[in-house]
Amino acid sequence: MVQGKWFSPGETLTADVLSVRSSVFGASGNNSDPEAWNALVYLDDRPVATGRIWWSDNAFWLGGIGVLPPDRGQHLGDLVLRLLLYKAQSHFAREVRLRCPLETEGFFSRLGFQSVSRTPSGHVEMALAGHDISLDSCHHCKKQDCPNRK
Ligand SMILES: CC(C)(COP(=O)(O)OP(=O)(O)OC[C@H]1O[C@@H](n2cnc3c(N)ncnc32)[C@H](O)[C@@H]1OP(=O)(O)O)[C@@H](O)C(=O)NCCC(=O)NCCS
Repeated sequence: MVQGKWFSPGETLTADVLSVRSSVFGASGNNSDPEAWNALVYLDDRPVATGRIWWSDNAFWLGGIGVLPPDRGQHLGDLVLRLLLYKAQSHFAREVRLRCPLETEGFFSRLGFQSVSRTPSGHVEMALAGHDISLDSCHHCKKQDCPNRK
């Protein structure tokens, strides 16, 4: 069973969040933690995926989106991203931004993010206008002959 949990800004992050973070990114704490909402996803009661969203410089920022390596490829990263975008949408975000490794650009562009620049560390900065957030899975699907559309 897949379950999601939110941690509000200022709430103490449990070892479950920190352990996923440190397994994926090698670090557990982050400067944005005091202002961020953190999402945590459990698979069969195991914490497997996380990500956070916070407000800074006139935009909502996403970061630390990661899934434990053995649990990748099951749409758990997609679930975290959608949870974070739902949070942005429910706060009437005008813009959502993130910085990600080049090799994950395609993961974010699926949901409408567009590259805006490269950082000196070789990451890509991406942006999505709030009115372009679409959590509808069918919206980005290229299948034209789906019975659900008829
Ligand atoms: C990027 C990451 C979060 C993806 O998580 P995941 O659970 O393996 O991905 P999902 O199973 O949810 O993938 C959803 C869709 O995105 C696609 N996708 C996944 N990773 C992708 C990538 N790197 N590039 C392009 N598409 C990707 C999948 O093929 C899938 O497509 P589909 O809907 O057509 O089947 C995971 O690989 C990860 O933790 N990476 C290391 C941390 C990181 O770099 N995070 C990003 C920056 S903060």
